[in-house]
Amino acid sequence: MVDTSDQWIRERSGIIERRIAAPEESVASMATAAARQALEVAGIQPTDLKYIIVGTNSPDYVFPAIAIRVQHDLGLDDHLGAFDVQAGCSGFNYGLYIAERLLKPTGGYALVIGSDANSRMIDWTDRSTCVLFGDGAGAAIVGPTTQSRLIGSFIASRYNPKLSLATEFNHLNSPFLPSVATPKNYMYMDGPEIYKFAVNAVRDSIKRVLEVARMSREEIDFLIIHQGNYRILETGARFAKVPMDKVYANIDRYGNTSAASVPIAFHEALQEGKIKPGHKVVMISFGAGVTWAGNVVEWGTSSG
Ligand code: ACO
Repeated sequence: MVDTSDQWIRERSGIIERRIAAPEESVASMATAAARQALEVAGIQPTDLKYIIVGTNSPDYVFPAIAIRVQHDLGLDDHLGAFDVQAGCSGFNYGLYIAERLLKPTGGYALVIGSDANSRMIDWTDRSTCVLFGDGAGAAIVGPTTQSRLIGSFIASRYNPKLSLATEFNHLNSPFLPSVATPKNYMYMDGPEIYKFAVNAVRDSIKRVLEVARMSREEIDFLIIHQGNYRILETGARFAKVPMDKVYANIDRYGNTSAASVPIAFHEALQEGKIKPGHKVVMISFGAGVTWAGNVVEWGTSSG
């Protein structure tokens, strides 16, 4: 479709293959599938949930929130609060940050999901974006446990439209009226500019999250970085002084799945036994907005 090559994509980004949602799938259906798995692993019932928080940048529609659709699909009534967080690829880390603070005074459980169908907002003739992004979802249950704990979190943002989907939305120009698509109807990304931001954001995230968790770099047992580009993972590892075998990478198989990237990576690292009981796991992300965020989890048992 575009003037590119497998070699260019592998060398510049580390991506070899990606997953694209099937026509009958949606951001909500992927989110619900991930939610069901998380509930099963945590061994709790959907009715135990107090909040559902979905990080997404590609909702199936503008409103109602995808989180409310997940609530409905899980068969839940109105005993809980469900809402979306739009924070670029940092949506899941933002969700963890929010969930912990919501639950602190009251207890109970929150379901935090990252779900994105990037393939549906990409211009497949734009080689600067169409080779990089994929679709997926991941989920976690946050709640009282004697095993795992969140030991530090931060969130940050700054206005920068160099990665955006800036379809204007007003009474004269509704993106929902039939029209000929213009470039503004698709995701736009200034790759080199966002690369520079990402490298700085990764460094700043590691620094900030270690500060709030009162940890040194030597105490990092495992590092999960948003899978935007393999070279960015290497930069993060160098800054954190962590060898690459302690940094999870699945960008080769999924590309950049935005808000789903961190929870998918966390889940696979657990399944592969790379995250072990007692490990301090640093999770950081950066994304459109621009946003960046981080959480440190001390992991308990195999189910958390
Ligand atoms: N195939 C072949 N050539 C390409 C392609 C492509 N798909 N895309 C760009 N090029 C060309 C460029 O036109 C340029 O050509 P020129 O030198 O003749 O002008 C050349 O390749 C080099 O382009 P750069 O953009 O400088 O390449 P770079 O090494 O910066 O890699 C990339 C590009 C992979 C996009 C990189 O900048 C990157 O990873 N950026 C950050 C992406 C990211 O992490 N985004 C996620 C943010 S998270 C979110 O919220 C969605």
